[in-house]
Amino acid sequence: MTHALVIGGTGMLRGATLRLTQSYDRVSVLARSRSRIEQLAARGERGDGVIHPLVVDYTQESLLHDAIAEALNDHGPIELVVSWIHSSAPDAHKIIANQVGSKLKQTGERCRWFDVLGSAMADPSSEKKNRIEEFLYWEKIDYRAVILGFVVEANSSRWLSHSEISAGVIKAIREDLEMSIVGQVHP
Ligand SMILES: NC(=O)c1ccc[n+]([C@@H]2O[C@H](COP(=O)([O-])OP(=O)(O)OC[C@H]3O[C@@H](n4cnc5c(N)ncnc54)[C@H](OP(=O)(O)O)[C@@H]3O)[C@@H](O)[C@H]2O)c1
Repeated sequence: MTHALVIGGTGMLRGATLRLTQSYDRVSVLARSRSRIEQLAARGERGDGVIHPLVVDYTQESLLHDAIAEALNDHGPIELVVSWIHSSAPDAHKIIANQVGSKLKQTGERCRWFDVLGSAMADPSSEKKNRIEEFLYWEKIDYRAVILGFVVEANSSRWLSHSEISAGVIKAIREDLEMSIVGQVHP
């Protein structure tokens, strides 16, 4: 069974989550609102329970640990992670990567982790470098960064739309881009 995990998959990543339901047997979607996950699942073309709700607040570390353990136990190793995690949970990725990585050590498989990051991460002095180095610790996880920029139109700029963000994430996954920028980060 192929298994993907989308952290924060009911907001701007909704489109990406739905796209992944076409290519993975199970897509575990982590967010606090069960109803928003269920609304998303109802929009999927495959109405066969492909979306597995992981209803948890990722700032609650022990509950987060339990939710990931449940997903791994129920649906097997995770081979793709897409994460959009607010700075209010600076250690959430470590809790998740520890469990995903341990499971992969048992099976010998690998996981690609697409980390969606705000535009501040494009600054070379930012913590992006630390993030890449951190992920070297999990030898079965291949880290990919997707940086969200903005769109310049007729001498003004705007934020990316949800569909632009989701399309950029799917492109990064499809082309397996180690580092990609959706839109642009410099004027
Ligand atoms: N460069 C850009 O263009 C750019 C960059 C960043 C953001 N934005 C814009 O800013 C808007 C707001 O961003 P947003 O961060 O609110 O993103 P969002 O993707 O709209 O929503 C956040 C996602 O994470 C989940 N989430 C939030 N806090 C959580 C928690 N503590 N535990 C578990 N899941 C949690 C939410 O579900 P629950 O609420 O159910 O938990 C939801 O699925 C976006 O709609 C986007 O358009 C634009």
